[in-house]
Amino acid sequence: MKAIVSKRYGRPSELQLQEIDIPIPGDKEVLVKIKATTINDWDWSLIRGKPYIYRLIYGLLRPKKTVFGVEIAGIVDSLGAGATHFVPGDKVYGDISLVGYGGWAEYVAVPESALLPMPDQIGFETAASLPHACALAYQGLIEYGLLDKGEKVLINGGGGGVGTFGVQIAYNSGAGEVNGVDSGEKFPMMRQLGFDNLVDYMKIDFTKSSQRYDLILDTKTTRSPFAYLKSLHPHGRYVTVGGSPLRILFLLLCKPLVAMFSSKRVNLVALKPNEGMDKLVPWIESGKLKSVIDGPYTLEEIPDCLEYFGLGKHLGKIVICMEPTET
Ligand SMILES: NC(=O)c1ccc[n+]([C@@H]2O[C@H](COP(=O)([O-])OP(=O)(O)OC[C@H]3O[C@@H](n4cnc5c(N)ncnc54)[C@H](OP(=O)(O)O)[C@@H]3O)[C@@H](O)[C@H]2O)c1
Repeated sequence: MKAIVSKRYGRPSELQLQEIDIPIPGDKEVLVKIKATTINDWDWSLIRGKPYIYRLIYGLLRPKKTVFGVEIAGIVDSLGAGATHFVPGDKVYGDISLVGYGGWAEYVAVPESALLPMPDQIGFETAASLPHACALAYQGLIEYGLLDKGEKVLINGGGGGVGTFGVQIAYNSGAGEVNGVDSGEKFPMMRQLGFDNLVDYMKIDFTKSSQRYDLILDTKTTRSPFAYLKSLHPHGRYVTVGGSPLRILFLLLCKPLVAMFSSKRVNLVALKPNEGMDKLVPWIESGKLKSVIDGPYTLEEIPDCLEYFGLGKHLGKIVICMEPTET
């Protein structure tokens, strides 16, 4: 099968399109013929082995696993021993980040528990674009952020994968106002998604304005927790999904102190892959939750797409299709 292979940490241009063996599904695994996959911040970090702390988990000198890609949508091809949830021919999708990944290939063998049945109304491109960022946005806003009806929300990094789903999830859950921070060139797309007020982070530091929010969802964490606390109403919550590792470490150290001395809260989402998708599927099926898709591109184009992702030029989710015309 064809796969994009990464043998060492480095630039995306060092990735190679190679022929490798089709994996054999193990116990309680299924082999999926991949129709669509995506590019995420997670891939961008692993390709380069940065932040360096990632290397402690994913391989000190070179990546332990050579095929990246954490979101897939495809068709069950065959079953390993003891796999009972699906039958060959079923359409499935899922976030496979915690089960060995490997989405940038024509096939992947994964535990059946990491897959969900694909909703009928959507195609492979949309299905692949959903699970990782959608679950992060859902868990950040609803499970960690405890979003309540009528609340004023800010999404920092609102024009990326998490933010473009986050604004829709927030409105569908009854938020009163959803504001976004990102670079100005993404504003037309963000306005279309329904963001109320937009702040260009290259020109304005939102933590220095007099605006206060009930809930801040952050995808970047570039400041100290005290800066974010100032931007919250009493009882407000700041929830980050990622960003600078040192900033996040400091935030976690401050978390108990903030809880002790203030009515405000700070927290970090620990992603539970695919959790919450069952609640989002009705919105997806009824068109109340849509993906912003950048692409689709082909498997061969992944190195170029990664460079583009690294420059932050993508809008929403970069989707890769094995057969571009098929959905
Ligand atoms: N917590 C967990 O368990 C977990 C698991 C997986 C992933 N993650 C994290 O989840 C996040 C993924 O978010 P995503 O998919 O939305 O990423 P994304 O698609 O890259 O979007 C991030 C957006 O933020 C913008 N941005 C860049 N610098 C900014 C700044 N200083 N202030 C405000 N906005 C800024 C980017 O725009 P420009 O660059 O164009 O300016 C981009 O539009 C990552 O931080 C990743 O590490 C967390």
